[in-house]
Amino acid sequence: MNFLILNGPNLNLLGSREPDVYGQTGYEALCRELKARAKTMGCHADCLQSNHEGALIDAIHEAPSRYDAIILNPGAFTHYSYAILDALKAVDVPCIEVHISNVHRREEFRHQSVTAPACVGQICGLGTYGYIAAMSYFVERENDA
Ligand code: DQA
Repeated sequence: MNFLILNGPNLNLLGSREPDVYGQTGYEALCRELKARAKTMGCHADCLQSNHEGALIDAIHEAPSRYDAIILNPGAFTHYSYAILDALKAVDVPCIEVHISNVHRREEFRHQSVTAPACVGQICGLGTYGYIAAMSYFVERENDA
């Protein structure tokens, strides 16, 4: 399978950004690890991060011709981007939403995801393992089909 691992605003600062919440692993190291994990599953993963809503939407629009599944951490866009919700609904590529932190144990505004309704499911609070769990789910689902 070909995965698009898409990360939204401020996730380029992983490692230095609130390490007590998001952990010590930097964004580049995370991508290397996810690509390696994809390979062990017989898959390929591309990582893309943007701080711009439009760039994330463009990547979602381009996904159908290139990817079997999207793994998306929309960052704060999770909580208010109807444009990303609509983009996910517009393409026929399954998506799992991932949050590194447990958003339900944090501020009230993080409890709602406007983007999750367009996703197969949501994983939160498992740290960066959530991205691996999402890939693993898609691989198992493919094997069962
Ligand atoms: C996050 C949670 C969001 O509320 C926050 O705005 C982020 C990261 C997470 O991975 O836990 O930027 O999506």
